[in-house]
Amino acid sequence: MKLAAKSALITGITGQDGAYLAKFLLDKGYTVHGLHARRASDTLWRLRHLGIANDVNLIEGDLTDLSSLIRAMEKSAATEVYNLAAQSFVATSWEQPILTANATGVGALNVLEAVRLVNPKARFYQASTSEMFGLIQEAMQSESTPFYPRSPYGVAKLFGHWMTINYRESFGLHASSGILFNHESPLRGIEFVTRKVTDAVARIKQGKQKELRLGNIDAKRDWGFAGDYVEAMWLMLQQDAADDYVIATGKTTTVRDMCQLAFAHVGLKYEDYVVIDPKFYRPAEVEVLLGNPAKAKAKLDWVAKTDLQTLMTMMVEADMARVSRE
Ligand code: NAP
Ligand code: GDD
Repeated sequence: MKLAAKSALITGITGQDGAYLAKFLLDKGYTVHGLHARRASDTLWRLRHLGIANDVNLIEGDLTDLSSLIRAMEKSAATEVYNLAAQSFVATSWEQPILTANATGVGALNVLEAVRLVNPKARFYQASTSEMFGLIQEAMQSESTPFYPRSPYGVAKLFGHWMTINYRESFGLHASSGILFNHESPLRGIEFVTRKVTDAVARIKQGKQKELRLGNIDAKRDWGFAGDYVEAMWLMLQQDAADDYVIATGKTTTVRDMCQLAFAHVGLKYEDYVVIDPKFYRPAEVEVLLGNPAKAKAKLDWVAKTDLQTLMTMMVEADMARVSRE
């Protein structure tokens, strides 16, 4: 193993953000360790896609198993810990609310406990979310906007968020919480709406699919590029004092207009293919999210670099190539 000045532990390294963050930290010279939950099928495709599967050290463990997290802290000797693992799909959180509470909520507390027990000087990042704003209490959401979660996922994340603040205030941990708005990429899971759309666009264009069934296309999201957002996570842990930050683009778009951008990129009209299917409606919807990233700009000198048009182009082209290889 190559010796490096800094050692990071990433939970959720096989997910979208974990893969981009691992690449970002490797490029900065870190030794990168990842918590790897055992699964029956392959979960390393994102790390292979970025060409880093052999450069990270995977440590077997699970968010719901505190002893495995303690061992991961010991084995990695991590000085920075990024808790990105979660049951992260909002729709599933109504089908599996208790699993979501255990993994997404108590799981964050387990990681905080492992940090406190093994190396309380390690810096900690919690992957909080705009989903905590839910039924929004202000038109533009900032760090001081009251929360009103609308899904078991949002409630579980709120627990992790407040535990992060509590461990900072109780034990002096350098624990920061990034309240990240939606961020996407060609490595996004297929169940999330942007990737569902770009995959369908590629299949429809190549004659492999006839229609795209969606739920509430009037919902609005503040969408950015995951590759930009992982830098903000790292910047938070480089500050003298831990804090909480909204990370967003400051622009919001309907699912409908996002579809229009994706279909138009290959010369199609979304109206000809999108079918509304109530099966994809949620028991309680987050109708609109719009983040105010002013604090991140002022304190971290961070701004989102990629606009939605560029993001959708990147995702459609990646899916066009992927589908044509099938
Ligand atoms: P993702 O692609 O769904 O990745 C989730 C990761 O968590 C995967 O590596 C998964 O492992 C792992 N995981 C799930 N349950 C686990 C468990 N019990 N023990 C250990 N690992 C477990 O999510 P993402 O989009 O990268 O998001 C990263 C984090 O940011 C998540 O916490 C998410 O809730 C939060 N977040 C995301 C966004 C966004 O727009 N992407 C916005 C705000 C906050 P497997 O691969 O083995 O399943
Ligand atoms: N997934 C999905 N599938 N969403 C659909 C569909 C569909 O067929 N049709 C409409 N939507 C709407 C959803 O109802 C929601 O309003 C919006 O599209 C976005 O859905 P997702 O892409 O599933 O993301 P999300 O906003 O629920 O959650 C994502 O962002 C959160 C941050 O705000 C996830 O990444 C969460 O983990 C993250 O915390």
